[in-house]
Amino acid sequence: MDRKTFIKTTAMAAALTGVGGKLSAQGEDPKVVKNNPKSKSGLPIVISTWNHGIAANEAAWKVLSEGGNALDAAERGVWIVEADPNNTSVGLGGFPDRDGIVTLDASIMVDGGQAGSVAFVQGIEHPISLARAVMEKTPHVMMVGEGAELFAESIGMKRLKNKLTPTTEKAWQEWLKEKNYKPIINIENHDTIGLLVIDQDGAMAGACTTSGLAWKMHGRVGDSPIIGAGLFVDGDVGAATCTGLGETVLRTLASHVAVEEMRRGATPQSACEEAITRIVKKHPNFKDFQVGILAVNKNGEHGAYGLHKGFNYALYQDKKNELIDADSYVK
Ligand code: GLY
Repeated sequence: MDRKTFIKTTAMAAALTGVGGKLSAQGEDPKVVKNNPKSKSGLPIVISTWNHGIAANEAAWKVLSEGGNALDAAERGVWIVEADPNNTSVGLGGFPDRDGIVTLDASIMVDGGQAGSVAFVQGIEHPISLARAVMEKTPHVMMVGEGAELFAESIGMKRLKNKLTPTTEKAWQEWLKEKNYKPIINIENHDTIGLLVIDQDGAMAGACTTSGLAWKMHGRVGDSPIIGAGLFVDGDVGAATCTGLGETVLRTLASHVAVEEMRRGATPQSACEEAITRIVKKHPNFKDFQVGILAVNKNGEHGAYGLHKGFNYALYQDKKNELIDADSYVK
């Protein structure tokens, strides 16, 4: 389908079905497809982590159907999740660190290798847009903490005061009673929106944003803003993004592993399986944490794999946006 026909037909489909911006970031209950269906090729494709991906995919698809490119779509897609005050793992509605402060990490990357990221930023509503600004407006790739916040201010972004939502304040007060940090598979680690887009012209982009682990040490940075760990995009091959316990993804650069596996000829599915298997090999305690990974190749075939059961993802392809349960290493 050429670009013009795609824009026309998707705009029509949106008008008929009412999709295109109506869903909240939590989404309506999508139809869940059990087991990973056989991956099909086909562009455009938007794929993202967890059920908040349904709303993110809708927003990204809307950008594409209005003629926007992959980069705009990736940014806008995760934007909607960052803006949701009820999302406790992404954006300013996220759970704070052990000192009650919400710190955010994000990265963005496009097919030519250009990338931007921010880490340990406070009071910024859309860290993904700040990451994009680092990529587009500075000679750097990564900015952190106060320097990144001052840069945000200098380009007209607001710096808000740290303020927990009633939900995160209550949860933090509860945590303070025991001060016990114990990640729980698929609950506490149900984090991060990672979203990959290939538009109808074959342009590719990815975005990844999170408030990180709840009750982390102040100053802790996870995998999401680290290029090659939480996100990697290479237009010659494909793209990958990770979610879950960031330290394990940092030790293995799992997104980069998946893209390099695809470069060597692996399907996106076996690339994801290899990345998770490496994490397992390096972490004897793999039963205690969750990681999920998504990958797409430049033809629009996708793969997804969790360390444990429970990792799901949203796939928008062929005019359908579906929530799919990924296969997992531990059955
Ligand atoms: N995967 C997100 C984090 O560990 O911060």
